[in-house]
Amino acid sequence: MPPKTGNRCFSLLVPFVLVSACFIICSEMWFSKVNSRTRLQTVEVLLKQKQETLLASYRSYREQLRDKDNEIKEISNRYKLAEARILNLSLNLETRRNSSKDLPVIYAITPTHARSQQKAELTRLSQTFLHMSSFHWIVVEDSRKKSRLVANFLRNCGVSYTHLCALTPSDSQLNIGGLVRKSSKGVEQRNLGISWLRKNVDLKTQPGVVYFADDDNTYDLRIFAEMRRTRKISVWPVGLVGDQRYAAPIVKNGKVTGWRVSYDPIRKFATDMAGFAMNLHVFFEHPDLQFSHYTRPGSQESDIISKTNITLNDLEPLADNCTKVLVWHTRALPPKLTKEDKMKVKFDHGSNFIVEV
Ligand code: UGA
Ligand code: MN
Repeated sequence: MPPKTGNRCFSLLVPFVLVSACFIICSEMWFSKVNSRTRLQTVEVLLKQKQETLLASYRSYREQLRDKDNEIKEISNRYKLAEARILNLSLNLETRRNSSKDLPVIYAITPTHARSQQKAELTRLSQTFLHMSSFHWIVVEDSRKKSRLVANFLRNCGVSYTHLCALTPSDSQLNIGGLVRKSSKGVEQRNLGISWLRKNVDLKTQPGVVYFADDDNTYDLRIFAEMRRTRKISVWPVGLVGDQRYAAPIVKNGKVTGWRVSYDPIRKFATDMAGFAMNLHVFFEHPDLQFSHYTRPGSQESDIISKTNITLNDLEPLADNCTKVLVWHTRALPPKLTKEDKMKVKFDHGSNFIVEV
């Protein structure tokens, strides 16, 4: 029996519908896949943009943080400086207050030059001077410019101070007409200290005593108490000087009659720089009084005292009629620092130069 036309149509329609359905499902799947990929790509682009924006704001925050950090450092540095200045001002004030009580101010003039042990020497000195009231430290660097090391050191040392600098000319610069063969140390620096005193101290309201305190000597506090009594020029023994245990003025019946020294005993005033002090008024009475490069090294002390026209008899012997040693002409051996090169080899770097010594 031949199949009915309706049946045949139906049998053709079923595969067609199935194929179409398959086609529709597949294309639908394909479109949705493409669609979701595009969506994913869009999301990825959006995420990347977001990431970049976040990164940019992170960088900008990081920079802001760094700026703030620097600002904090700057402010804390300024704070430290202000603190040190306040300390110095209060010490200056105390010095003035004490001096108004007629206690003469001791002006210690210290020439100092750059070397490995400089900060150590200055520290030792300052911690002696810190015990003194009515004391003003004039520190004069042998340099064209004030160094940061000494400036920072002084700011924090706690002693009332003035910081100056004057460079010692070279021997060849001084050798004009063959008059100066070898320069003395500390001439420019002590002279600048003296002229600072002439310009800045009013003798009428502020009596004072001037002492030339080298940066490597050792000072007993009692020598300052002694020298504060100086009316014109006072003298005393100095330990460990001139290859002797001590050098000293010879005193008879309370008067200086000569010098118990090995080095150049024919000097009229054969004292070391550490062995005498002068009342400030002497420098005002002799406005030209100062050290000179034309003076032979070793005779600076004798020459400056001679220029005041004082006699041996006028000298004021201190330290128990010059029987006590209260100051020593100590000299630190320069450190060798030869291991610095070895450190470079061992650690691929030497000292950290940020560390101040
Ligand atoms: C001796 C005396 O004790 C010093 O007072 C004198 O100034 C010196 O001799 C000299 O005229 O040659 P000395 O121990 O040999 O002392 O000298 P230093 O201690 O080396 O120097 C005296 C002062 O001058 C020190 O405060 C030192 O720091 C300073 N100085 C030294 C400089 O300012 N520049 C230098 O090139 C060397
Ligand atoms: Mn010395």
